[in-house]
Amino acid sequence: MAQTDPGISPPPPLSAMLETLRERHGLVALGGGEKLRARHESRGKIMVRERVDLLLDPQTPFLELSPLAAWGLYGNEVPGAGIVTGIGIVQGRACMLIANDATVKGGSFFAETVRKHLRAQEIAEEHRLPCLYLVDCGGAFLPEQDRVFPDRDHFGGSFYNQCRMSAAGIPQISIVFGGATAGGAYIPALSDQVIMVKGTGRIHLGGPPIVKAAVHEIVDGETLGGAEMHTLVSGVSDHLVETEMEGLAKLREIVGALGEIGKITPPPQPPAAPKLDPAELVDIVPTDLRRPYDVREVIARMVDDSAFSAFKPDYGATLVTGFAHIHGYPVGILANNGVLFSESAVKGAHFIELCDQRQIPLIFLQNITGFMVGTEAERGGIAKHSAKLVYTVSNARVPKYTVLIGGSYGAGNYGMCGRGFRPRLLFSWPNARIATMSPEVAATVVTELRRQSLKGAADEAAIAELDRRTRAQFEEQSDPYYATARLWDDGIIEPAQTRDVLGLCLALSAGETRDTGPRPVYRM
Ligand code: COA
Repeated sequence: MAQTDPGISPPPPLSAMLETLRERHGLVALGGGEKLRARHESRGKIMVRERVDLLLDPQTPFLELSPLAAWGLYGNEVPGAGIVTGIGIVQGRACMLIANDATVKGGSFFAETVRKHLRAQEIAEEHRLPCLYLVDCGGAFLPEQDRVFPDRDHFGGSFYNQCRMSAAGIPQISIVFGGATAGGAYIPALSDQVIMVKGTGRIHLGGPPIVKAAVHEIVDGETLGGAEMHTLVSGVSDHLVETEMEGLAKLREIVGALGEIGKITPPPQPPAAPKLDPAELVDIVPTDLRRPYDVREVIARMVDDSAFSAFKPDYGATLVTGFAHIHGYPVGILANNGVLFSESAVKGAHFIELCDQRQIPLIFLQNITGFMVGTEAERGGIAKHSAKLVYTVSNARVPKYTVLIGGSYGAGNYGMCGRGFRPRLLFSWPNARIATMSPEVAATVVTELRRQSLKGAADEAAIAELDRRTRAQFEEQSDPYYATARLWDDGIIEPAQTRDVLGLCLALSAGETRDTGPRPVYRM
């Protein structure tokens, strides 16, 4: 039985964590709050999430991405980073929706807004999903302009992406509901097709205050950049609509005429629900990461028919590898069942090569403290064997998807396809922890380093304070909400939803033509 460190209260059960998650999702869905919502609606405008609902095909899923971006930042006054992104079905086609929330600081862009917008575009580009921009946006949030404007992956990068995707035949379509000012103006201006809503839609490179300051011209917003002017005079917009509802119907009509792009390839075999209920995961998965459990219990509640064909089950058993189907799509699963030894690492590398050769997408279920350390492990070549896993993860040509179902520490994060290894999508469970190492280990390392540099002259009170500070830092920074706020994942999802989320992800990549050139399978 694992010991709990004195001073650290044990984590709450998963059921309590799920309540917190739902509560936080509910809070951000309210946008900028009651007052701004009322002002928004009094202008005849629809709230951003309702716009999304109205646009999507009825009874189809919407995979919202990073709903808790910017959580805990800016005094929690920028819910969802002021933007809703996600994958949904419009006229039978999977599309990426990128929708500003004007009730959050006029839909202007903070650093996390930019990151979320760029991430949505990256996913769209990789899967060739048409991008639908629901524009209501005041451009860069000016007090944060140094974190939003100048660098490669700042606001400019989103326009670069738009131009490149359009040229690559991935449709870019905008509907302008409200302000599209400065940077915001380029979203429609660089789109293939633009719809504007009369009365509220505005596009201008500089709004009336800037125009007054720059060219001493006094002009109202509607004359300067209203929907009628842009559709009838400037030609920046292609379609003038009277209401938001009419605009959403027009957007659906445009998507309906896009041809084959975004159409989903059906699974090669009929989907089958797991024999074991995914709802049971809440009771099976311990939130104290030091409490071991069998990850095959998770897999059995995630895959079709609970059928899992294990690969090399009797070798390197701390890494479970095997074949299954999720919603009818074939997958190769790698899941941690303890610390990674050399045997587990080379088995993982071998398995990835098999999947790569057979063109089977990979699912990584991370719950990993890291690779084994110590003299025996080093003499056994853990550095080169773990590198083989990292190498094959990096070079696999098949789509990869990662779910943080527990700890994600150190090089274990790398070997199990952490963010740096470009999984197509990466989600976390609310019990996940992500950091170079756990708070306990970090405190030990940092205090030991300090002791060594002070060479016997250590002040024990100062060391104890350093220990406390390091633990507090690692506790705070490994929290999944800290991670998702900063877009280190694509969202926190519920364990019981994971199968459906992965099923949608697999459907998006199922029809792709893959690089099928020769690729050997080395027995490691
Ligand atoms: N930077 C900083 N703050 C901004 C902002 C921006 N680009 N755009 C909006 N805001 C803030 C407003 O100051 C206001 O803040 P407050 O609630 O703390 O007072 C809040 O967002 C809502 O803006 P408001 O103007 O009241 O909303 P609106 O719905 O009437 O108008 C816009 C929305 C986007 C049309 C309008 O705010 C606007 O034109 N913004 C400035 C655009 C601009 O010049 N951008 C240049 C960027 S490079």
